[in-house]
Amino acid sequence: MNNVVLVGFMGTGKSAAGKLLAKRLKRPFVDLDDRIAREAGKPIREIFAAEGENGFRARESKAVEWASGLRAHVIATGGGVMLDDSNVRRLKASGKLVCLTARSEVILKRALHTLPSRPLLNGPYPKEKVEELLSLRAPSYAKADGTVDTSDRSLEEVVKEILKFL
Ligand code: S3P
Repeated sequence: MNNVVLVGFMGTGKSAAGKLLAKRLKRPFVDLDDRIAREAGKPIREIFAAEGENGFRARESKAVEWASGLRAHVIATGGGVMLDDSNVRRLKASGKLVCLTARSEVILKRALHTLPSRPLLNGPYPKEKVEELLSLRAPSYAKADGTVDTSDRSLEEVVKEILKFL
């Protein structure tokens, strides 16, 4: 089996589900945001502060290029990875893309604990920002091969659904 790539909005549980899925499939797990931060030598929020969103996206595309060369890994991506067509092409060529989704109020509840590390939501109106980004990004997330709604599911259930899809 080729890579399994988890995509989807912030707070949909890509990293947590990815780790457990990798365990179940006995495959290595890679988190692209972790890799980007490690390569940059600073956390994502500092990359945004110092280099802007464009700087972060350039780093993200490089990380995608690297990850697309992996085989039989489980890869968790950042929420904006599908916005770039060449990212989508590369990731699709390397395996199956599963989009994790959640209702906006669930996303907001999960993200509220971690707002400082989520620069795109860390403004005065996080609720409106979540809704705006979700509707802007819907066409990009629709490019995934399959979708699993995580809103009312435990981590175990989410992984079970992903395995069913695979
Ligand atoms: C982003 C999501 C973040 C991170 C960066 C940008 C986005 O990852 O890559 O803050 O554009 O949605 P998570 O989805 O893992 O929070």
